[in-house]
Amino acid sequence: MALHRMSFLLVVIILATKASGQSKPGCSDRCGSLTIPYPFGTTSGCYLDESFLVSCNISSDGSPPNPFLGRGNATILNITLDGELRISTFVARKCYNQSGLPIDVSGSTLNLARFLVSNTKNKFTAVGCDTIALVLGSEMQNYTTGCLSLCDKVGNVVNGSCSGVGCCQTSIPQGVRDFSVGVSSLGNHTSVFDFNPCSYAFVVEDDAYSFSSLDLRDFQKRTTVPIVLDWTVGNLTCEEAQKDLASYECRAANSQCYNSSNAFGYRCKCSSGFEGNPYLVDGCQGTQYNLYFKMKLKKLMMIRNCLLL
Ligand SMILES: *[C@@H]1O[C@H](CO)[C@@H](O)[C@H](O)[C@H]1NC(C)=O
Ligand SMILES: *[C@@H]1O[C@H](CO)[C@@H](O)[C@H](O)[C@H]1NC(C)=O
Ligand SMILES: *[C@@H]1O[C@H](CO)[C@@H](O)[C@H](O)[C@H]1NC(C)=O
Ligand SMILES: *[C@@H]1O[C@H](CO)[C@@H](O)[C@H](O)[C@H]1NC(C)=O
Ligand SMILES: *[C@@H]1O[C@H](CO)[C@@H](O)[C@H](O)[C@H]1NC(C)=O
Ligand SMILES: *[C@@H]1O[C@H](CO)[C@@H](O)[C@H](O)[C@H]1NC(C)=O
Ligand SMILES: *[C@@H]1O[C@H](CO)[C@@H](O)[C@H](O)[C@H]1NC(C)=O
Ligand SMILES: *[C@@H]1O[C@H](CO)[C@@H](O)[C@H](O)[C@H]1NC(C)=O
Ligand SMILES: *[C@@H]1O[C@H](CO)[C@@H](O)[C@H](O)[C@H]1NC(C)=O
Repeated sequence: MALHRMSFLLVVIILATKASGQSKPGCSDRCGSLTIPYPFGTTSGCYLDESFLVSCNISSDGSPPNPFLGRGNATILNITLDGELRISTFVARKCYNQSGLPIDVSGSTLNLARFLVSNTKNKFTAVGCDTIALVLGSEMQNYTTGCLSLCDKVGNVVNGSCSGVGCCQTSIPQGVRDFSVGVSSLGNHTSVFDFNPCSYAFVVEDDAYSFSSLDLRDFQKRTTVPIVLDWTVGNLTCEEAQKDLASYECRAANSQCYNSSNAFGYRCKCSSGFEGNPYLVDGCQGTQYNLYFKMKLKKLMMIRNCLLL
């Protein structure tokens, strides 16, 4: 009987741990299909500071609500507690008509208030057979890099390969908070127009893009690609932040601080054997594995107590 009650309790505990939200108590942790863990939040009092605001725009036409980063217009795709934030950005393009005149030109810019473009998870990429592409920082962030991609027939390109034939790639520097992407051509696409009327360029999550020869025609009609941002809290290192416990954001017992390699500021994680949200008091819970062993121990104690009686 007692045993039954205990396993029942255990199930309740496990369910409770699983179901417990990642947001502050009383705060919504969703916007459409996006899960929003604290320090992010959608309403006042639910996020750490303005940079963690997610504007959840309810549309009037009944389609799912759209999450935007801060008060800007970048759509959020995913937020993870290990310090990654995915947003979608535009693909820059320049398209020519048969006589070699540009008919459709658009750039792509990103201006982030606080977070940085991950230099390890993203690549600057250009697609085309008569393509020269550049990515530049703003006046505050002086950097320029780019790449060149050429080819004279579709047969020469290799799917999955961005080494300058149909597709080229280059890394982006550390510490990038804004960029603008521009694309152009050496000639005017007349010699490749039949299979490649446009040049394309974008910063993209490395794992989310694989070049295909099908992209040469119309980029398979995609206009946006995902990009990974690094998010951190504060602007101090772990050691500095720990000096003032009132503002130290690793609030959970059984949590740890770690530095970011790209951005200033720090991150928190649950200690080994615990999982959940380290930014919330009581956020890090023992994993089911631990609960299982705790249960075993309790059972053993009960059996021992019975034997002793
Ligand atoms: C979100 O909705 C508000 C109010 O309807 C509107 O002013 C704002 O422009 C919308 N933001 C975006 C990025 O669409
Ligand atoms: C956001 O707005 C800026 C300025 O109006 C524009 O250049 C940019 O393309 C927009 N980005 C998105 C994702 O809508
Ligand atoms: C967000 O990222 C996490 C971790 O990479 C993944 O498990 C989850 O499925 C992603 N969610 C969406 C909506 O892409
Ligand atoms: C190319 O575009 C220019 C400018 O829009 C136009 O004058 C010309 O007729 C176009 N040529 C073709 C072949 O479509
Ligand atoms: C495009 O390039 C070709 C070859 O270099 C040239 O003959 C033609 O005049 C160019 N067309 C335009 C519109 O610049
Ligand atoms: C960036 O470059 C411009 C022009 O060369 C210069 O005036 C400016 O001071 C530089 N800014 C930084 C932050 O280095
Ligand atoms: C690349 O893959 C697509 C299908 O994914 C295929 O249709 C195309 O022929 C391939 N191109 C090359 C050059 O192998
Ligand atoms: C660091 O954060 C503090 C408090 O949020 C702020 O006053 C200060 O301006 C920030 N410094 C930098 C370099 O961002
Ligand atoms: C964080 O960075 C500081 C300064 O670079 C370094 O002294 C410290 O050891 C790092 N702390 C952790 C926990 O990695």
